[in-house]
Amino acid sequence: MFSGVASRLPGTTNPLYRLRAQLEKQGERIVDLISGNVTEHGISFPQPLLEEILLAASRRSQVYRPDPFGQQGARKAVAAYYEAHGVPITSEQVLLTPGTSISYWYCFKLLANEGEEILCPRPSYPLFDYIAALSGVRMVQYLLREPRSWAIDLEDLEARISTKTRAVILLSPHNPTGHVASEDEIEKLAEIASRHRLAILSDEVFSEFHLKNGTVPRAGRCAAPLVLTLNGISKMFALPGHKLGWMAVSGEKGNIAQALTALELISDTFLPVSELIQAAAPALFQDGGEFLRHYVAEIRKRYETARDLLRGCSRIRISEPEGGFYMTLQLEDLEEERAAEEILKREKILLHPGHYYDIPPHHLVLSFVQKSEALRETLPRLLAVLDNL
Ligand SMILES: Cc1ncc(COP(=O)(O)O)c(C=O)c1O
Repeated sequence: MFSGVASRLPGTTNPLYRLRAQLEKQGERIVDLISGNVTEHGISFPQPLLEEILLAASRRSQVYRPDPFGQQGARKAVAAYYEAHGVPITSEQVLLTPGTSISYWYCFKLLANEGEEILCPRPSYPLFDYIAALSGVRMVQYLLREPRSWAIDLEDLEARISTKTRAVILLSPHNPTGHVASEDEIEKLAEIASRHRLAILSDEVFSEFHLKNGTVPRAGRCAAPLVLTLNGISKMFALPGHKLGWMAVSGEKGNIAQALTALELISDTFLPVSELIQAAAPALFQDGGEFLRHYVAEIRKRYETARDLLRGCSRIRISEPEGGFYMTLQLEDLEEERAAEEILKREKILLHPGHYYDIPPHHLVLSFVQKSEALRETLPRLLAVLDNL
């Protein structure tokens, strides 16, 4: 009755999540130190402002006039955002989507036939595998190197290119290592993409969250044949449930035109973006700046709290992230699955072993977006478990 894809998508949970379910059944409260959902940790778009924006938007969206690219006002707001960041993108180069995850699916359909390949980083954000399975493309991993602060190994990347390769995913800031690709890395990546006629899919969902006061270099400025920059309001404005993302298409003129024609058709097939959130987008960008500044400062503060607490432990080495919501811990001599299990069992704290992200052995992954008070309460307990293993 079911397709091959439906049968292959796993329905089973792993041992750590089975343990979590068992503990919850016994009435234990688990501290989730892996969720990057800031709305659960005291950060949300100011409610009175959001209500005002959504009310005005609902009045403006009474008559349904769908546009497969998205409403002009919202696309102009996205283009203005890029202009302010020095990326020459016009509103005609922007297509709205219900979020970055679906933007990936559009990109895979746009660029690769069944069985063709898209390069993605290793370690990697786990959702890629599912989107690839659903769209029939093959993910081929290129390496990020921990001793070089998880920089892209460009030689390894180029060696993985085959006649079936169609695109390369750049994730910057990277989830979960926190690596931010430098201008130089992006330029070299663009040279490789040009030599092999590949598109670059640049996932910038953490672009606002540079942890060291710097800015995140943008692939939309580079000289690759085609760049699809993906972002949305989930992380940027802490509005993951409002479901608005976009793709900004740049590169060679002919490629931009061809990509936009195909994307228009893909989007027109579903018209999936809420008109309400599209109508709200200009005001979110215009009035959300002050919130965003506080939000970024708060994320930096939480990161510094976590880093300072973790620095004290001799059993781990932290690879300091430059951006994003996550960090990796290298365990000196401990087995990661056992460490994660013991931390959950003894202290009811959930974090992930590195193999969930294809990180080399002996790593843990956590998110530092919990409130600083919660980090100060939780992290010493976690370190005590590691000290006693
Ligand atoms: C690297 C990365 N890309 C994309 C997404 C999904 O973004 P969206 O909520 O816009 O679908 C996430 C969500 O956490 C993410 O971490």
